[in-house]
Amino acid sequence: MSASGSWVEVDRSALSGNVRKIRERVGNRQILVLVKADGYGHGAVETARTVLAAGADRVGVARIHEGAHLRRSGVEGVIQVLEPFHPDDLPEYVRFDLVATVCDLPAAQAMSAHGVAGGCRLKAHLKIDTGMARLGLHDTHDRESIERILSLPGVDWEGIFTHFARADDDMDATRRQFERFEALLSELERKGLRPPVAHAANSAAIFRHPEAWLQMVRPGIAVYGYPPEGASDAGLVPVLRLRSTVRHLSWKDEGQPVSYGGTWIAPRRTRLAVLPLGYGDGFWRGNSNRLSVEINGTMCPQVGRICMDQMMVDVTDLAQVDLGDAAWIIGPRPELSAERLARNLDTIVYEVLCDLGRRLERVFI
Ligand SMILES: Cc1ncc(COP(=O)(O)O)c(C=O)c1O
Repeated sequence: MSASGSWVEVDRSALSGNVRKIRERVGNRQILVLVKADGYGHGAVETARTVLAAGADRVGVARIHEGAHLRRSGVEGVIQVLEPFHPDDLPEYVRFDLVATVCDLPAAQAMSAHGVAGGCRLKAHLKIDTGMARLGLHDTHDRESIERILSLPGVDWEGIFTHFARADDDMDATRRQFERFEALLSELERKGLRPPVAHAANSAAIFRHPEAWLQMVRPGIAVYGYPPEGASDAGLVPVLRLRSTVRHLSWKDEGQPVSYGGTWIAPRRTRLAVLPLGYGDGFWRGNSNRLSVEINGTMCPQVGRICMDQMMVDVTDLAQVDLGDAAWIIGPRPELSAERLARNLDTIVYEVLCDLGRRLERVFI
């Protein structure tokens, strides 16, 4: 238990097991596990250590400072930054031994000039936009720049990659994106410019598009235990649990409105438990009156608006409840899934996990 009364438990063996499941699936392809956004809310440093020990080949972060943080915390192994390389950050890439992502010609030229002038040759991956319309050089419109970039000396062009926009919901759109990427790779191969490591597959593509595995795959959410639709037999186990504790108990009269705005009114004499968990912990207020939590083996409805630091739970029907009793908010059973919270809020499980705040200690078990 954490001193604050609410905490995030991270199941190290589930995390390692999920990496091994992906390894079984993709064979000897390299695996880059995404640990950006503090390891999808699980805690980046311990997550990175665990997945690397379980056989991941490298970890990926979005921002350079996330990579620097991992290095400073003693994470060894390859760390790849996925945000576009900016020349101002060059010293940081060198200092923290980070692999860069290049998304435009001027950045590539600056990186190359540094290497040619005798500075450290950075390892870099070139990002190609095949339909996500977010980052990178367009596979056809920017063909000339792509070839110029990959011809630049002074850079170790280790990889080239693209990212799918709809790997989870549109097989055809994903195939079209992949065909465009393959066409580019063939052309680069013909010209002797193809970097050795091409990659495209996020979690959904790992399960739904084996043709897109190439030399490396980039799972994020699957490693945290959430398979894409249609792959529930993948053997992945959710890694994160959100736990809390009964901090206060009281009886309220029938008719008593509970919490801000009185959105829930006690329909009978009601026993309320207060849990020290609220939107200040990244547990969204939009869940108010829309979830149940497990206390002493029984699902109990959350009632009234979720506050910044607390939420109330109706425990009237519990035969036994005491201060200090454990409450499960996210847990291994389907009724306690993070997906149910995502559904409540009409969002995706990624957002539920990433939003869990820094005030919640991450306890690796
Ligand atoms: C470039 C890139 N690759 C891979 C991933 C992993 O995606 P997923 O968590 O769906 O596996 C992400 C996640 O946003 C990403 O931005």
